[in-house]
Amino acid sequence: MHDATYNKPAALKGYSVKNATTDISNDLLDWYDRERRSLPWRAEPGQRADPYRVWLSEIMLQQTTVATVKAYFVKFLKLWPTVEALAQAPQEQVLKEWAGLGYYARARNLHKCARVVTGELGGQFPQSEDGLRALPGIGDYTAAAIAAIAFGVPAVVVDGNIERVVSRLFRINDMLPQAKKPIKAAAATITPTERSGRPGDFAQAMMDLGAGVCTPRKPKCSQCPLAAHCKAATFGDMERYPVRKPKTVKPTRRAISFWLTHNSHILLERRADKGLLGGMPGLFSTPWVERTEFPGAGEWADAAPHQGEWRLGETIAKHTFTHFHLETRLAVAAVPARLNVENGFWVPLADLADVGLPTVFKKMLPLAR
Ligand code: ADE
Ligand code: SF4
Repeated sequence: MHDATYNKPAALKGYSVKNATTDISNDLLDWYDRERRSLPWRAEPGQRADPYRVWLSEIMLQQTTVATVKAYFVKFLKLWPTVEALAQAPQEQVLKEWAGLGYYARARNLHKCARVVTGELGGQFPQSEDGLRALPGIGDYTAAAIAAIAFGVPAVVVDGNIERVVSRLFRINDMLPQAKKPIKAAAATITPTERSGRPGDFAQAMMDLGAGVCTPRKPKCSQCPLAAHCKAATFGDMERYPVRKPKTVKPTRRAISFWLTHNSHILLERRADKGLLGGMPGLFSTPWVERTEFPGAGEWADAAPHQGEWRLGETIAKHTFTHFHLETRLAVAAVPARLNVENGFWVPLADLADVGLPTVFKKMLPLAR
C-alpha cells in the first residue's frame, strides 16, 4: 500500500504509517512459521483451531500468564472436553478447578457462557466479533482474538503484548490508556484484511513476538523480524514504549485471619457471591482495610468466628491484588465442638488442598504450623 493512496485514520494523525502493510505481516508470518510457540490450545499449522479450545484459552489468558495457564487448560480440557460438558458441570466444581488462576468472576462467566452457547446457540460459538462480544465474559479483546484465531476473521487483536509491539513499531507517544485508540488504529494498518492473510496466525505471531522478543525490558531487536519496520528500534528508545503514567503505589491492607479447628477439621467461610473472590472458600478474617498497624486484640476478637482463647501468630503472609497489598497474621484456636457460623463450613484438614482455596489463603496455611 502506498503512502499517496493510503487514507490515514484520524487516530493516527501525526504518525507516519508508510510501511507497507503486507511487508510487515509477511515478515512476521514467515518468522511465526519458524518460531511459533507450541501451546496446547493452538492448532497445527494449516489446521483449523477448535473454537471451544480457543475460547477457553483466551478466557484463562485474560489476566494470567501463559506459563500458568498451560496446566489449567490441559486439566479443564480433560475434565470437560466440550462446551456441552463444561455447561453440565456444577458451578461449584468449575470454581474449584479454577482456584489459583485468580479473578474468579472469570470462572463464573466462563460457566455462564458455556451454558448460553450450549442452551441457546446449539453448541456453536458465534463467528463474528459482535456475536462473541454479546456472550458473558467476552469483551472487545477476547471477541477479536476468538474471531481471528478460531474463525479466520480479519479482526484487529490488541492485547498487552501487541500493545507494546505496536506502540514501538510506530513510536506512539500518547500515554496509556489514551494511547489505546491510536495503538488499535495502527494495529489495524498492519493486520491482514483477508482470510488468506492468516489474521489468526498474525495475532498469535504478534503475541509471541511480544512475549519472547519485544519484551518490556531489553527487547531483542537484533532477532526481531520487524526491526527494519520499527521506528523505536531506529531511534533506540524502545523501552519508552508504551508510554505510561508513573505508577501510583498500591496501599497496604492489614487483617487477622482465623484458623479454627475441631478434631482435624477446619472452619472455612464461603465468601459472598459479589465482590473480591466472590463465591470462593476462604478463612474468616477481619475486614481487609487499609491501615498502618494490624487490628489490636480488642478489635479483632469482635470479628472472630468464636469467642474464646486465640493464639496470635507473629508471621505475616503477604499477597498482592490488583489494587492493594494484603498482609495477614493468623489467630489460631481449637474448639471442643463444631460450631455453626453463618456462611461457615467445616472441612477435614486432609482435604484442604482440594477445596479450591484462592492463593491468598493458601499462603496463610504455613502460618498455622
Ligand atoms: N495470550 C492471549 N492469547 C494468547 C494466545 N492465543 N497465544 C499466546 N498468548 C496469548
Ligand atoms: Fe520490538 Fe525491537 Fe522488534 Fe521494534 S525491533 S518490534 S522494539 S523487538
